[in-house]
Amino acid sequence: MFDSLEMAPPDPILGLGEAFKMDTNPSKVNLTVGVYKDANGDTPILESVKKAEERLLSQESTKAYLDIEGRAEQAAVVQELLFGSGHEIIKSKRAATAHTPGGTGALRVAADFMKGVHPGSAVWVSEPTWPNHPAVFNAAGLNIKKYPYYDAEKRSLDFDAMCEALEQVPPGDIVLLHGCCHNPTGIDPTKEQWRALADLAGERHFLPLLDFAYQGFANGLDEDAAGVRMFCELDIDLVIASSYSKNFGLYNERVGALTVVTKSDETANAVIGHMKRTIRVNYSNPPAHGGLIVTAVLSDPALCKEWEGEVAQMRDRINDMRALFVDTLKKKGVKRDFSFLKDQRGMFSFSGLTKDQVEELREKHSVYIVGSGRINVAGMTTDNVDALCTAIAAVLG
Ligand code: LMR
Repeated sequence: MFDSLEMAPPDPILGLGEAFKMDTNPSKVNLTVGVYKDANGDTPILESVKKAEERLLSQESTKAYLDIEGRAEQAAVVQELLFGSGHEIIKSKRAATAHTPGGTGALRVAADFMKGVHPGSAVWVSEPTWPNHPAVFNAAGLNIKKYPYYDAEKRSLDFDAMCEALEQVPPGDIVLLHGCCHNPTGIDPTKEQWRALADLAGERHFLPLLDFAYQGFANGLDEDAAGVRMFCELDIDLVIASSYSKNFGLYNERVGALTVVTKSDETANAVIGHMKRTIRVNYSNPPAHGGLIVTAVLSDPALCKEWEGEVAQMRDRINDMRALFVDTLKKKGVKRDFSFLKDQRGMFSFSGLTKDQVEELREKHSVYIVGSGRINVAGMTTDNVDALCTAIAAVLG
């Protein structure tokens, strides 16, 4: 059955991590997958998470299946974090939330759900976007379209071109937006631009799908939700895929959520029924542990405060690394001005390095970054930044 299979191409992000593991160079640097590292180069378990886990371990009394959509307690904390506590959407129960295995799981459930209820809807993704976005939507059988996002010359958001394209989106199509910390560019719309995008969704009647994987990594937990919340002020349908991999450091627990905002509690009930059918034929019901941790932290004021402090620490360290990276490049005599990297937000820097330069970095210097030129700033430390910048200086000549 399988003798004639050719080798499948490696994943554009996770495949590089596999190649990194095989590299025997002792001073190799891995800035590929979006995983946070502390000053020692470790991916720590947050203190707040450890405390919640200790509590869970002593109190947990069963490993019985969860409901298909997960636990109501988790849906409640997810919605508070998204909308802000006491938001009208929560009070009127017009949002349906299902706990999913990671943010990618949320995107796949969203894609399958949309294919089931609106098979003709195409999905519009930014150019560039996270390579797994089109892959997930394709796998669900949805058509993919692109809208411009990045102005390579100005190294900024090309908002006019973006709006011009979105004005052409037919009603009922899906527009994927990154809630904050756009992956890979690290460039987000301003508050005014978010407002204009929300208005556009209202006028054009497209369905906004917000991928919200980095809440807390740009400017703060509430600040980063500003864009999402602008859509929530309008009386429109809206889909949000959340991830807790990054802001809780729960990468391998696979914890995320899919939230569909509708116009009434009745519609939300209908939506949850369809979401359950979608989930049941995929992974049946979600894993419990990660969701229990998130719920325990967010529903305990002291733990929640500690967690907010830990998110702020991660954010601050990344921003310190941005500044150090830019300054070190300068010190190494790199003529090109990289100061724009300081304005980008989240884990990633979109460096502007070409495919060939990225390849040379990997082959000659054992420095691993994603083919698009995306660098995981959260993987930089004071120990590896010097070697990294020496390599980039050599490649740029
Ligand atoms: C990334 O873009 O590196 C992360 O979102 C992790 C992943 O699954 O690709």
